[in-house]
Amino acid sequence: MAKSEKSIYRCQACGFGSPKWLGRCPDCGKWNTLVEERAAPKTAFSKSSNAFSVPEPLSQVKGVDGGRTSTKIPEFDRVLGGGLVAGSVVLVGGDPGIGKSTILLQAASRMPGVTLYVSAEESAYQIKDRADRLGIYQDSIMVLPEISLEHVLAEAKKSNPLALVIDSIQTVYTEELGSAPGSVGQVRESAAKLMRFAKSTGTPVFIVGHVTKEGTIAGPRVLEHIVDTVLYFEGQRGHSFRILRAVKNRFGSTNEIGVFEMTDSGLHEIENPSELFLAERPLNVSGSVVAACMEGTRPLLVELQALVTPVTFSVSRRSSLGLDSQRVNLILAVLEKVAGVHLAANDVFLNVVGGLKLEEPAADLAIAASVVSSLREKPVPSDTFIFGEIGLSGEVRSVNHAEARVKEAAKIGLKNAVIPWGNCGKLKDKACGLKITGVRNIDEAIEALFT
Ligand code: TYD
Ligand code: MG
Repeated sequence: MAKSEKSIYRCQACGFGSPKWLGRCPDCGKWNTLVEERAAPKTAFSKSSNAFSVPEPLSQVKGVDGGRTSTKIPEFDRVLGGGLVAGSVVLVGGDPGIGKSTILLQAASRMPGVTLYVSAEESAYQIKDRADRLGIYQDSIMVLPEISLEHVLAEAKKSNPLALVIDSIQTVYTEELGSAPGSVGQVRESAAKLMRFAKSTGTPVFIVGHVTKEGTIAGPRVLEHIVDTVLYFEGQRGHSFRILRAVKNRFGSTNEIGVFEMTDSGLHEIENPSELFLAERPLNVSGSVVAACMEGTRPLLVELQALVTPVTFSVSRRSSLGLDSQRVNLILAVLEKVAGVHLAANDVFLNVVGGLKLEEPAADLAIAASVVSSLREKPVPSDTFIFGEIGLSGEVRSVNHAEARVKEAAKIGLKNAVIPWGNCGKLKDKACGLKITGVRNIDEAIEALFT
């Protein structure tokens, strides 16, 4: 690739510009901060004054026109905020092999129009092979195996597709920069060009980005502020569940999730994830509790398991999967200090079943309950569910969306709830036939669950 004369290398820490790449910034002295950039064209400031924007009353600003296009995958639409907005740029990030290409190919096959699928890392044959596996035979998907972004954009302008898919941003390159595809400068400049294309033509663009270890290859994180919507595809190896999570959305709420299962014939939506996550739950076993959580606006019931065993080494171990370990340590400290639950001589292991990640504080009470249940070898009744945040003095604080959590639990047939006292009052008339116990602190919760 010929080295472009137009690029400069700019320090991301202090803004120093250099005509060639340097390992260390001579200005601020930091290492590895120089990133290739396209030098601003000389004409940048000679724009005529009528090309600048003028202020206008907010009430007269035009809204999203053209409405939203459905991907015909309801779980995907939900995460997008109700469908795909014209001219929006959606980044789909995730580990390699998680299913990014699969979901975009499935969406492309169902959307009501032609999708230009740019495959910069797989050959057209490989795409065809995947499509065969998914049972997709439509001619509405135009495959373009190409890595030059200039060529891709020219093709897209010519064919004017309903949507453009770039798979992946780390393998396309713009000829304006001399660096290799996948470098920070290339990834950023390519995304900016796609953004300009999307905004000027109204074509929605999906950008696939692999999450990679920090270092030579730029991950999707450098793009998060450029694009309109950032979706992350999550899942654990060995589990077939996949969660599509919105972490940024200029056209909808964030923290929405879509739940899928990867099968031999592609990704299938899971309409009632709570039922699935609780399906293989052992009943009346100590250490296993049902936590009523929220993912965005969606209630989700999940099984939380704790195993408390006598310490094996001189120092006790605390290990958790799917939970924030800082939060777990905090709850264990509160249990020890306030509720007299002595864990110093025990190892504590916690696991969220199904490969989910529980990050909201509303899971605190369920964590505490599972630990106490395993330590005392007393099961929590299997028709009981729990939610509530625990404060440092052992108080149980109310959480949001209590009604949605309770309704979801009632829907799948649970009977008893142990929840914060503060949430109880408002739920009185809407108890859905459940027995609801409100607790003010961790002692009351332990009493309600184990006596
Ligand atoms: P892919 O969409 O290629 O992942 P990404 O684009 O995120 O790298 O998915 C690849 C994985 O999914 C691969 O391990 C095979 C598996 N898979 C299935 O199990 N079933 C299927 O129908 C398809 C298409 C893929
Ligand atoms: Mg792929």
